[in-house]
Amino acid sequence: MTRTVYVNGTYLPEHEATVSIFDRGFLMADGVYEVTSVLDGKLIDFDGHIKRLHRSLSELDMAAPCSDDELIAMHRELVRLNNIDQGMIYLQVTRGNPGDRSFVFPSADLPPTIVAFTQDIPNLADAPAAKTGFRVISIPDLRWDRRDIKTVQLLYPSMGKMAAKKAGVDDSWFVEDGAVTEGTSNNAYIVKGNRIITRALSTDILHGITRVAVLRFAAEAQFEVEERPFTIEEAQGADEAFSTAASIFVMPVVEIDGKPVGTGKPGPVAQRLRELYLDEMRKAAI
Ligand code: PDD
Repeated sequence: MTRTVYVNGTYLPEHEATVSIFDRGFLMADGVYEVTSVLDGKLIDFDGHIKRLHRSLSELDMAAPCSDDELIAMHRELVRLNNIDQGMIYLQVTRGNPGDRSFVFPSADLPPTIVAFTQDIPNLADAPAAKTGFRVISIPDLRWDRRDIKTVQLLYPSMGKMAAKKAGVDDSWFVEDGAVTEGTSNNAYIVKGNRIITRALSTDILHGITRVAVLRFAAEAQFEVEERPFTIEEAQGADEAFSTAASIFVMPVVEIDGKPVGTGKPGPVAQRLRELYLDEMRKAAI
């Protein structure tokens, strides 16, 4: 089945969808994005993703491309047209096409470019990787200092993923000033006893939408949550480690830089949080 995608108000087959070569997203990475997961044909935590989209846009002095109701309707229409039961929806908003290349922002009334497409992942909730866990390596965090804005400048995270692939593992965790910031495309956590430890929110990391929900479910399940930096050595000596993102929900991390974490197998806390997250978010999906 040909995928139907969305470009600036129109639904069309993916091979007919085009964006100008002068688009600021293409030339300057001047754009922001969101990834929303879909389970049972419904949107997971869409409210959180819309709120973060507004925050990213406003941090870059960009106007909202359309109303929230239009965004919800468009996401639902893409799910319907592409018959998605499980998968993801990628949404990107750029500062638009000024018709030439310039470092100066175009006038604020230039219409933004808005594109969205689905990714069909039938076993997203039941991903085989969640049963074996991720093995990760650590690499220096060489990204810019506004990682709280979900921009499309993903070259360094992509290089981090390639470094992991080259090392024969699943992902990289970034390290800055001796402490873990986050994964290439996920937030990072360790578990010690009854305590879940993750870096506090700041401009150092993306404010994960999955993170908010997982920490809430963790607190409700009587875990202690401690928001502070941790080192790779502390993570290697922890009982468990895991990552969270809309694309992986809660993913156990079983090895860091060649050393097993805990038993070297997915631990009970990460597995429980994954189950809690999937159960609760499925109930609240729209
Ligand atoms: N990435 N940190 C980074 C650097 C990310 O890119 C992501 C998400 C997260 C987790 O955020 P959330 O829980 O809202 O998905 C943390 C998405 C999934 C991606 O780029 O594909």
